Parts: sequence; structure tokens; C-alpha cells
Amino acid sequence: MHFYGTQSVNGKGHLTIGGVDTVDLAQIYGTPLIVYDIALFRERARAFKETFKSAGVQAQVAYASKAFSSIAIYEVAQQEGLSLDVVSGGELYTAVAAGFPRERIHFHGNNKSFMELQYAFDEKIGCIVIDNFSEIALVKEIAESRKENMNVLIRVTPGVHASTHDFITTGQEDSKFGFDLKNGQADEAFRQLHDHPYIQLLGMHCHIGSQIFETDAFRLAAEALLDKMESWRDEYGFVCTVLNLGGGFGIRYTEEDRPLHPSAYVDEMAKVVLSMTRSANYPMPEIWIEPGRSLIGDAGTTLYTTGSMKEVPNIRTYVAVDGGMTDNIRPALYGAKYTAVTANRVNDAHEDKVTIAGKCCESGDKLIEEAYLASPSEGDILAVFCTGAYNYSMASNYNRLPKPAVVFCENGEHRLAVRRETYEDLIRLDLSLQAVERGAVN
Ligand code: LLP
Repeated sequence: MHFYGTQSVNGKGHLTIGGVDTVDLAQIYGTPLIVYDIALFRERARAFKETFKSAGVQAQVAYASKAFSSIAIYEVAQQEGLSLDVVSGGELYTAVAAGFPRERIHFHGNNKSFMELQYAFDEKIGCIVIDNFSEIALVKEIAESRKENMNVLIRVTPGVHASTHDFITTGQEDSKFGFDLKNGQADEAFRQLHDHPYIQLLGMHCHIGSQIFETDAFRLAAEALLDKMESWRDEYGFVCTVLNLGGGFGIRYTEEDRPLHPSAYVDEMAKVVLSMTRSANYPMPEIWIEPGRSLIGDAGTTLYTTGSMKEVPNIRTYVAVDGGMTDNIRPALYGAKYTAVTANRVNDAHEDKVTIAGKCCESGDKLIEEAYLASPSEGDILAVFCTGAYNYSMASNYNRLPKPAVVFCENGEHRLAVRRETYEDLIRLDLSLQAVERGAVN
């Protein structure tokens, strides 16, 4: 059994997170429940920042908040001095609602709308990461008509193929994101942006993929970007002050995963950038990174209550829980693997091999194909580890299941961070035919 962060077992044999009994949490808040170990999130944030600091490199660590976006987590990110990567008007709105310092918000996306971009200008955010030529035109139009400045980065695809799931690689050439570094598109974007009166081009951005376990791909990407930076300096006398190398650092979901310590990636980046800039006599840029999963992934645990069980003789036993693909789409979507424990009997031998199924009307709604539990019985509390990233943020209301509640635990205390959806919430946007006929709505 592998525990993460502050997880432990108390005298009752119950799993604890942040010093709080998870069985108590299940009772207080109901299940499914996503529980965050906030001390672990803070520890990860500090480790990234410290590593840059000890390498003597100016840096911004931006939380890639698509991993889990909520007002409360933005507040914690702010407390830790993180910057914020948002990818939509909705995430920006959440950041604004959390009072996040606008100058540390970076706006991503491959199809930002005119409205979203205007919103970014309204809020005077720190930086727009420009993805494509249409966006260059939109940003120029807005900046010129308002006569307002905006910092931008050019997002490029460095042509690096990192070993990860196909659906989550983004740095290769055939990608919907960014300007190609090799075929001239990045250069053209540069020409369109570098001497604009209202647009301050800070530098370049790339993100090569997600759940990456090696530093080589990051080194190659950094080298490719630095080469381009040098060529822009040589040709145009332009010096980039920011090099954003994205996120994607892998975490341990199961024992097959062997991630490096988060600082190893940052160390490697700092080393490459320091040595290349030194030898090219290029002023050291700030390095920005955007970790999502590696900041928040293993800080999250989902608690479920077990319900029906079904034995398929000689094949498998299904143990069904009160959530499923609605709160964790990753097994169905990516074949992602997870581990679980019986949170109310952690010390018992976990020797019963079962399949943990969700409650959705879909055969593929299985959370863990091969889980080992402590003689499962109805009413157990199951804890599925490492559900902090891309679980709640990708949750759906399939079968009209309400989204779970989210709780933050730290130093023996718990507080609700996101309310559980109610049935009322589920029909909040629905309109009855009568209401439309009455003209009560348009
Ligand atoms: N920066 C950019 C521009 C990104 O596109 C992403 C993730 C990140 C940073 C953060 O990557 P991370 O450090 O979290 O790996 N839904 C998928 C992951 C999609 C990642 C999308 N971009 C999953 O559940 O695995």
C-alpha cells in the first residue's frame, strides 16, 4: 500500500488525510467526496519554487488550473505565490472571483473567443499565450482599439514527441496547438508581433505533453526554443525575457509509474537554459512552468461508499460504488489506472481481487479493473488515490448524477471547498415547455 502526502492510518484502522479521519468525512459530507491534502499541494508548490531559487533562476510557477479549478484552490495557489494558467473565460472568471492577482494570470487556449480576449484585457491579466494567427489578429484589434498594452508569449510546437498517452501529447508537429517551430510559422508569428506598439512580446511557450517521466523531452524542447530565440536575436536584435516550458511532469498513480521528483524536471530545465544562454551570451530569461497534475494530482483522493456486488463465477467480482465515470472519466477515456484501499479497514489484508465499477449506465464505467480490497462488503468506504487532477474538472452529469463535494483537509481540520450538487442544481437550467409557452423565458 502506498500512502501519499499526509495520509496515514489512525487507531481505528481508518485512513486519514491531513490528520482527518476519512470515514468521518464520508459521514459528514456524504460520498462520493473528493478530499484534498492541502499540505501536499503546498509542499509541491514550494518545492518547485525552491528549486528555481537554489538554481539562481528567476521563475514563475503557474498552476495549470484545468487540473482542478475552484475558488478555494485559487486562494491556496495565491497564498503560495503561484501564478495561474487559465484556459477559458470560465477559469478566468473563477480566478477573478477568487481575487487572484491579475498580473500573475496567464491565458491559454487554441480558440480564445473575441469576448474571452476582451475579458482578459478588461482584467489586465499578466499575459496572453498566443496560439495561432487568428488570435494575433484579434489581440491586435483589441489592443489597438482600446490603446491598451498586453504582454504575450508565442506558443510553439517544438516537434518533440514525449512518451505519454496519444491524446495528451501536444508538443509534436501534428497538433492543434501553437505555431510550428520548424516550418516558418513561429517566425511569421514573431514578425507579426515583435514590434507592435501595444503588444509586448515577452518570449515563447511550449507544452510537450502530460504525465511525462523523463527529462530528455524537456531538454530537447528547451534547446529547440533557445535556438529559435537566438536566431531572432541575431536577425532582429530581439531578446526574449521569458521562456515558458509548460507542464506535464508525471506522478505516481500505480506502482508501475516511476516519476522523478518534481524538482528533477526543473533542475534539468534550469541547467539547459543556463548553459545554453551562457554559451550564446544571451541574457538569462525568466523560466516559467505550468504544472497541473504534479501540483495537485496526488493531493486528491476520492471516497466512495460501496453498494451492490456481483460475482461472475470464475471471472470476476464487481464491487459497485456510488460514483464512477461521472467523477472520474480517466479510466474510460485514457485507460488510466488507479489504486484503492478500504478506508474503513486499512489494516486488514487487502487480498480480494475485484473490479470496482461505477454506477453509470455504461459497461465501460469501471474505475479499477483489478483492485485488491479488504473482504469488501456493502457500506465500506473506498478511497481511490491520486484523483486530484482532471477528475472533478472533467466531471459530468451523465445519468444526472450530481457532481461530488470537494473538501480540503489540513492540520487536522476540514472545510468544504465545493458544495455537492443537488437535484435542484441539476435542473437549474432546464426549461419546462409550459414556462416557454407562458413566455416566462425567451
Ligand atoms: N500547460 C499547458 C499549455 C497544458 O496544455 C497543460 C495540460 C498543462 C500546462 C498542464 O499539464 P500537467 O502538468 O497537468 O500534465 N485530461 C488529461 C490531461 C490533459 C492535459 C492538458 N494540458 C488527463 O486527464 O490526463
